[in-house]
Parts: sequence; structure tokens; C-alpha cells
Amino acid sequence: MIRKDPVLEHEWHPVAIAADVSDTPKQVIVLGEKVVIFRTKQGVKAMKDLCIHRGVPLSLGRVENDQIVCAYHGWCYDGDGRCVRIPSLPPTQAIPLKAKTHTYPCTEQHGFVWVCLGEPREELPPLAGKVEEALLPIWMGPYPVQASAPRVIENFLDVSHLMFVHEGLLGDSEFAEIKDYNVHQVDGALITDEIVVFQPDPDGRGVGVNNRYIYEIYTPCCVKLVKRSEGSEEEFHLFLIVLPETETTCTAFMLQLRNYSPEVPDQVFIDFQNTLLEQDKRIVEEQKPELLPLDLQAELHLKCDRVAIAYRRRLRELGVTIGTD
Ligand code: FES
Ligand code: CO
Repeated sequence: MIRKDPVLEHEWHPVAIAADVSDTPKQVIVLGEKVVIFRTKQGVKAMKDLCIHRGVPLSLGRVENDQIVCAYHGWCYDGDGRCVRIPSLPPTQAIPLKAKTHTYPCTEQHGFVWVCLGEPREELPPLAGKVEEALLPIWMGPYPVQASAPRVIENFLDVSHLMFVHEGLLGDSEFAEIKDYNVHQVDGALITDEIVVFQPDPDGRGVGVNNRYIYEIYTPCCVKLVKRSEGSEEEFHLFLIVLPETETTCTAFMLQLRNYSPEVPDQVFIDFQNTLLEQDKRIVEEQKPELLPLDLQAELHLKCDRVAIAYRRRLRELGVTIGTD
């Protein structure tokens, strides 16, 4: 059993890239709950993935006339979770009022489908107002990871791993020193100063580049990286949003935005991020303890880990339980 999380239960979680959601029902796991999502003319619906007749997942069924039809005995549920047809019932008998499955708040925003298990704390999902529309977007995921959501987020915020885990792609282990930086609170978000990462020869021209990274933490499972290079107008934004499935598993999604190289096919960027993610998975899937320790005495921290420390503090203040210890 998964612990109830008083914080994450009221957050919006990304469950799919919107373009991937059709009228074919799909099961997703949100904080240990099995949820079925499917597209109707009234938008994407999310409900408990369980037929109340004999407990079969509704995701095994199909969608017809915007209703989900159970694969076992054909009960039909409308978008509000009400059973509106029981084929084996003679027409003289009414459908029991209790024939209803639980629905969840579900919305489409910034190219993702979002689900909240409880009462949404915020009206809109966490990307609202944070995506620069002028930039070129690419949606990435789902990426299943066998690690806790907070471990995956913290890895993304970890600047001093770039030169080791992603050596040659994002940094060089000969230039591993991180200058001191601070983390600030701005409108409820945690935002770092610019952190410089030197890359001796990123594109084979024999010229070194100082990359400047800014990390922003919005919610326990939604963070952003802004990357700029010295002497260049290029701007790169990467949102990481993670769906906590169980204490020790999650699914990551990313939204990448850029203002350069419009001619380069999306797949080139997707392949690059896939490579980075595989490199990260090797590490995070083996980290112990699996649950992120929120007691700051539990692991050793350096100044360059300031953003991780701020993240752990934030999780502790909020009272996040899933994936933490
Ligand atoms: Fe779903 Fe019987 S179990 S209709
Ligand atoms: Co990494």
C-alpha cells in the first residue's frame, strides 16, 4: 500500500502527452491509484479504473458514444462516471443508483493531460503562466523510471553530476568545480542564481563555452532549467514534470523550449534527451535509500548542493510523504 500524501493528492499530475490520448482507454497510475483516461467530445475524462460490477479495469474496455464500455459485461459509464446502460438488465428494471465509478478532475494544458486525485489546490496545473509561447516546444515522455519521484527531480536539479554522468555531452570532469550560488524565493518558487558550467569543446570547433544554468522549483514534482551560453542569444528551457506512481516508481515528462535551430527536426532533440535520461536512470535507479531523506543530517551536502537542500527543505515544510523519508 502507498501512504496517503496530503500534499500531492491535491496537486495536478501529468499523466500523458495530450496528443497521445485518444478514445482508446489507457490506464495510468497516480499516487498508487489506478486511473483510466480516455478522450470524449467533451474533453479527456479520468475515472477510477474499476468497474463496480465485478471489479474489472475499465481500461480493458472501449469507448463508444463518449461512454466507456466495460469489457466483461458491457456496462456503460458516461463521462461523469455514472452507469447509463446495463445490457443484461430487462428494460423494465432501473439501473441501480449506486452504479457509479469515481471520477477525478482532469484537464488538458500546455500539451499534457493532468489529473488530480483530490480537490485541486490550484485551479490550473503548474505550467500555467510559465511557458514562453514564443519559443519552439517539444513534448517528451512518458519515461518510466524505477526510482522515487523526488529522487528523479533532485537529480535534475543536481548541477555537479553533469560533468560525470553526462561527460562530453553537458560537461567535462576536468572542469567540475562549481562556484558558489544562492537559491531565492520568488513568488512561491525557488530559483537559483546563474550557475556556470564550462564545456571545453561542445561542438568540436575547439572553442570552450560557459553554459549558465538557472534552476526553478515550482511544486514538488515540477521544475525547470533555463540554459544560456555566454556570447550567444540562444535560450533553452526544459521543464521536468514527474508523475509519482508508487513510493519508488514514477514516470517523467519533459517540455523543451528553444529559440534557435528551427530547421532541426524534433527527433534530434528527443534522441539527445533520451540519451541523457538513460545515463541518469543508471544512477537514480540504484540510489539508496530509495526514499529521498528529508532529514538534512542524513546525507552529506556541499555548498554546490544548495538547490538540493532547498528542495528537501521545501518538501519537508510542505509535508510531502510519497518517495521521501
Ligand atoms: Fe464490468 Fe461486469 S465487471 S460489466
Ligand atoms: Co542528468
